[in-house]
Amino acid sequence: MNDNAVFLLSNGVKIPATGFGTWQIPDGKIAFDAVSQALQCGYRHIDTARNYGNEQSVGKAIKESGIIRSDIFVTSKLPAEVKTYKETLESFDKSLSSLGLGYIDLYLIHAPWPWNRQGYDYSRENIEVWKAMEEIYKSGRCRAIGVSNFEIPDLVAILDNCSIQPMVNQIRYFIGNTQNGLVHFCRQNNILVGGYSPLATGAILANKKVAAMAEKYDTTLPKICIRYVMQKGIIPLPKSTNPTHIKQNAEVDFEIAASDMEYLDSLSGTIKGLRLSNIKRKIKKRLISFYSYFGK
Ligand code: A2P
Repeated sequence: MNDNAVFLLSNGVKIPATGFGTWQIPDGKIAFDAVSQALQCGYRHIDTARNYGNEQSVGKAIKESGIIRSDIFVTSKLPAEVKTYKETLESFDKSLSSLGLGYIDLYLIHAPWPWNRQGYDYSRENIEVWKAMEEIYKSGRCRAIGVSNFEIPDLVAILDNCSIQPMVNQIRYFIGNTQNGLVHFCRQNNILVGGYSPLATGAILANKKVAAMAEKYDTTLPKICIRYVMQKGIIPLPKSTNPTHIKQNAEVDFEIAASDMEYLDSLSGTIKGLRLSNIKRKIKKRLISFYSYFGK
């Protein structure tokens, strides 16, 4: 893995251009082994969250890796359900203590709404939470702050009311799900985009068109997916508990030609198994807007 590839956040902090995701990796030996293996394979950017329940094992693997703390970039996230100033400070302290690493590099609001209220407007609460995020940042206990799963209106609410802008927005990003408008908005506002689920949580692995592209480059389908995200200027956060996969995913040392990138761009909305979920999500959002408007 190219250890030197970094992006600069808007506050000048360096963030490794590829990270290792730990969503759905259970705490204990599985998370410990996966993170240890990722570090051995060259990953220097580990992404966790309070809600993943694995901060303790992630922290332990980092501490026992023998790599100096400042060479590893660690992200954690405020649970989506936490929407008050006080609870934000408390939850950060819990993450800090579970990880046991002295400080967190990047701390994100996990989502604009609690998971069981997706699509609802929590702007007022997020503005309050962001005040606590700014306090945490100013205290020096984390080096950068940001958000995750925020869409443009959620970001506008923060940008209009903050004294420190979010430095990152981490979103679901893979071939066929590129959220171009949102990415463009983030870039215009100097917000770096991180992409979780670059393999569509496994749903893309059987895609014949992406498999044909992998064959053309004499590589694997997961590597095409990861490389695609990298070439879009977004931080891929692939996850795996399989040591061979972790090693393979860390060795993405080829270039996809511009014409092939355009072809992969054109697959937007056509990846089997994803189209329906996107349509369902859009219908749900429309219904929520409709009911919140007429319910007022
Ligand atoms: P596994 O843990 O067995 O490797 P995403 O990063 O989009 O969330 O996708 C994660 C899923 O993709 C997991 O099910 C993981 O399974 C699988 N995966 C990750 N890397 C590879 C790989 N190189 N080959 C096959 N499957 C992979």
